[in-house]
Amino acid sequence: MTFNLSSLSPADRYRILASLVTPRPIAWVTTSDGEGHYNTAPFSFFNVFGSNPPLVAFAPGNKDRRTPKDTALNIRSNQQFVVHMVDEALSEIMVESSASLPYGTDELEDKGLTYLPCDHISVPRISEAPVALECMEHSTLEIGTNRLVIGIVHVVHVREGLMSPDGNLHEGVYHPIARMASPNWYARTVDQFEISRPD
Ligand SMILES: Cc1cc2nc3c(=O)[nH]c(=O)nc-3n(C[C@H](O)[C@H](O)[C@H](O)COP(=O)(O)O)c2cc1C
Repeated sequence: MTFNLSSLSPADRYRILASLVTPRPIAWVTTSDGEGHYNTAPFSFFNVFGSNPPLVAFAPGNKDRRTPKDTALNIRSNQQFVVHMVDEALSEIMVESSASLPYGTDELEDKGLTYLPCDHISVPRISEAPVALECMEHSTLEIGTNRLVIGIVHVVHVREGLMSPDGNLHEGVYHPIARMASPNWYARTVDQFEISRPD
């Protein structure tokens, strides 16, 4: 089967690509409007792209034809965001936080999670997340109606027990979930295997 994407609608292209290019990590992104209103939403068009400088990118789209999603609006106004990784215990709340709420409404209000202050930026991080990356926007690319926010990671917070102080992950303890076929499928990462690389 072959799909020629140029003859398909953006919605069809999205369904095909987002279902096939999997599993994808999920960035659970907290931002602030600068007036004390926090915002959290998940984005699976996301990855890490380098370490010098430490680079991440994710792609928040538009709410409608003209209005960027709240996450993108907040980053445009103050350049700060926190990317959290999500494990299965947080998966339901993560999906609930994708609800499209009015600008300035905190998706995590009354969800029983705790915000902690960050070290480098004024946006808070979610203490229950296994990993939190404090990021500053480097630049944002707009390509067609896609928006790619590129960020530099300044500080990494890792839950106790996951990693040694020299940055080595302990075996069998870190299980972020991943996005699978669009719209509602996810994968666990409990079944992992090792292959040694050639010298
Ligand atoms: C697992 C998951 C992944 C998502 N990935 C993206 C994405 O990569 N880009 C995007 O624009 N929306 C994505 N969404 C939808 C946004 O989370 C949703 O539009 C949210 O309301 C945006 O919130 P905001 O307006 O507060 O920024 C995803 C939703 C879920 C549940």
